[in-house]
Amino acid sequence: MIEINNLVKIYNDKRILNGLNLSIKEKKRTTIIGQSGCGKSTLLRLILGLEKFESGEILIDGTSLSGLKEREKNKIRLGFGMVFQSSALFDSLTVAENVGLVLKEHTNMTTGQIKSKVMNALDLVELGSAYNKLPSELSGGMKKRVAIARAIINDPKVIFFDEPTTGLDPITSTVIEQLINKLTDYIGATSVIVTHQISTILNVSQEIYMFVEGKAIKTEAADKIMKSKDKIIYNFVNGLVE
Ligand SMILES: Nc1ncnc2c1ncn2[C@@H]1O[C@H](COP(=O)(O)OP(=O)(O)OP(=O)(O)O)[C@@H](O)[C@H]1O
Ligand SMILES: [Mg+2]
Repeated sequence: MIEINNLVKIYNDKRILNGLNLSIKEKKRTTIIGQSGCGKSTLLRLILGLEKFESGEILIDGTSLSGLKEREKNKIRLGFGMVFQSSALFDSLTVAENVGLVLKEHTNMTTGQIKSKVMNALDLVELGSAYNKLPSELSGGMKKRVAIARAIINDPKVIFFDEPTTGLDPITSTVIEQLINKLTDYIGATSVIVTHQISTILNVSQEIYMFVEGKAIKTEAADKIMKSKDKIIYNFVNGLVE
């Protein structure tokens, strides 16, 4: 589905990604872990075609991103849903307007059709009652759920979640983790989850990669990772400092 070969990304002479290889399989939930600043969000931006990279390639369903024009990239992007690290809702728009924005701007759907899709998406995240609310009236966990409803509104083939549970209490985290699993199964989407949070790593992952020194190491499965044989992975998931 998404293949990343030998990817190099440099910021200010620093090789953030240094020959990174990674394979995201169709209809699986792939989790990306690694220390703050190792380039996880950067990788998502590169896959979304929002930034350029130095060398290597990103293949989406076999098509290389590098050769594409902006219009073609936009078309691919419409098949992606993104839940940003900060939720990134528009404060002046209601929940329903935030969730339906992409349909209003990028499709010819009527107001009625958009309304019905928005209501369906909000029901899926169990926030139908927040339809007319403003983001400032919502808790952090509710904002995350609105951001998830917005990401799924266009029936995406791939959903990217950047730190979906960071900063949430353990119960709300579990709700979001269950939601990620439920939605990706329900929509039949492929999902990529960037996270630090152990509960999220354990509860959602079907494949796990850890970024270390600009490269991605494929780790053990979620049920074995806490006892990883790789010392770097073991220390990371157990929070050990050497
Ligand atoms: N636009 C930019 N210009 C210069 N440097 C950048 C830019 N964006 C990111 N970086 C640098 O690239 C590195 C990777 O950043 P990135 O946001 O991808 O990390 P991350 O793994 O997502 O971290 P976190 O877990 O804290 O979210 C950091 O050192 C950051 O300072
Ligand atoms: Mg990040």
